[in-house]
Amino acid sequence: MIAGVLVALLLGGVGTSFAIAWRPAIATIDPPQPQSFAPGLVKRGRVLAALGNCNDCHTVRGGRNFAGGLPVPTPFGTVYSSNITPDVETGIGRWSEAAFQRAMKLGVDREGRHLYPTFPYDHFTNVRDEDDRALYAYLMTRGPVHAPARDNELAFPLNQRIVVAGWKFLFLHPGTYRADPTKSAEWNRGAYLVEGLAHCGACHTPRNALGAERLNAIFAGGDVDHWQAYAINAQSPSPVPWDADALYAYLRDGFHPDHGTARGPMAGVVRNLSVVPADDVRAIASYMADVFGAPSAERRERGEAALAQAKSPAAAAADSAGGAIYAAACAPCHESSQAPPYGGINLVLSSAISSSDPRNLANIVLAGVRPVEGELSPIMPGFAASMNDAEVAALLVYLRSRFSKQPAWSDLDNIVAEARRTQTASLDTRTDARNASSDTAQRAKP
Ligand code: HEC
Ligand code: HEC
Ligand code: HEC
Repeated sequence: MIAGVLVALLLGGVGTSFAIAWRPAIATIDPPQPQSFAPGLVKRGRVLAALGNCNDCHTVRGGRNFAGGLPVPTPFGTVYSSNITPDVETGIGRWSEAAFQRAMKLGVDREGRHLYPTFPYDHFTNVRDEDDRALYAYLMTRGPVHAPARDNELAFPLNQRIVVAGWKFLFLHPGTYRADPTKSAEWNRGAYLVEGLAHCGACHTPRNALGAERLNAIFAGGDVDHWQAYAINAQSPSPVPWDADALYAYLRDGFHPDHGTARGPMAGVVRNLSVVPADDVRAIASYMADVFGAPSAERRERGEAALAQAKSPAAAAADSAGGAIYAAACAPCHESSQAPPYGGINLVLSSAISSSDPRNLANIVLAGVRPVEGELSPIMPGFAASMNDAEVAALLVYLRSRFSKQPAWSDLDNIVAEARRTQTASLDTRTDARNASSDTAQRAKP
């Protein structure tokens, strides 16, 4: 299949006219003085950078902010993020604002080379010029870091950047986002952020064989870093339907009592959103509530039944291997109305158990939920050291049958083994990515 993909990419490249494939270099400039940017503009840029998760991809654990070098694995090979500090040799210190804006809108670097769409410019193309200006001001006033780019690990012909011209021809729709005058200002603000800078679909929308988001399945659930980014539309697996208030709390604080906490790659998103003005998060929540749509009567009833079951849990039956583990290791925190930070939600409410994909649950059981430094945030121990794969699999079988009405999962042995392999290396250790102290966790995204 990969061969077919390559051929299609090449054909796309060839089919693209020379004019589209070729972009001129934009002249270098003398690095602008930090004082030349208005403080208000820089401050706005900081918020926008948080909305765009720039730090998440452009910073490695223990590395300096925005200095790049994070490996982003894709089905086609590994792409390393660039140094976007204003270093004159290895960063963007000599980039003009026009060059920066072109990178955001068209995925082309200053010298005119095509950038890989691992950099989500298929979303960033929707960012307005004045927001690009603020982002530029913010990045150009950071400390320059000397950090040479790392070579991508892509096979021929994908290591030829010209191939990306074909991809863009097929999948990049520059600046097509339009406000909808029939909707409220809040809805439009939310749509602008979600479809643009916040690039929610980059993780939550499934991708086609060429690594592009499937436009006929927007927000239907995607893959990132060995986690499932759940469907966040009408196909949501959440036992209790999401609404604007719950979305706001979850996105802003990383927790809602009917839904639980944000983990894995979503933890970094939520941490970034905690520095964003409340109005913007409110706008994202209200737009997304519309994307989810009003729940059907049947859906609402199921949600109420789950909430009722969570309030009066039946005693855990220790009549199976998984049940015995649950009663001893999990119920004390998940069914005892323990106070935070140790109290977890009743698992009948968890999307991790009602989802058709068991990976997130396996990840959580093995690696737990790490606290956010300096905050009273949820804590759950990981069980990687105390349970073997067979025990974890038995536990998952039990949880699925006790806490959901969905069909049993299959292939659990492989999934648990895979989770152990990936999570011991890269579980959500990037909760503090904002301060660049975070991690080498890899982004598994086309
Ligand atoms: C999902 C990961 C991801 C996110 C989020 C992300 N980037 Fe990147 N970015 C990359 C990767 C990977 C590259 C390198 C692409 C390549 O080499 O073709 C890159 C390249 C760039 C470049 C080109 C630099 C150069 O020297 O060629 C700029 C500028 C940039 N990103 C800015 C940003 C900004 C600003 C944000 C936040 C608004 C951001 N990126 C968010 C992954 C990301
Ligand atoms: C870097 C990838 C990534 C990005 C970007 C991202 N998400 Fe997520 N999201 C995830 C993952 C992975 C999960 C599952 C996390 C978990 O199990 O706690 C998730 C979970 C969620 C959930 C919980 C769903 C449920 O039923 O439990 C919501 C709601 C959500 N994301 C909304 C958003 C919105 C809105 C945006 C944009 C502002 C966004 N996400 C951006 C990866 C991402
Ligand atoms: C020391 C208390 C503690 C123990 C023991 C514990 N958990 Fe947790 N768990 C938590 C906390 C706190 C959270 C985060 C808040 C939340 O999401 O419920 C959590 C989150 C979860 C979640 C995510 C729920 C969601 O969708 O947000 C799952 C699934 C889970 N735990 C399963 C388990 C299983 C299975 C066990 C036993 C092997 C277990 N937990 C043991 C405290 C605990």
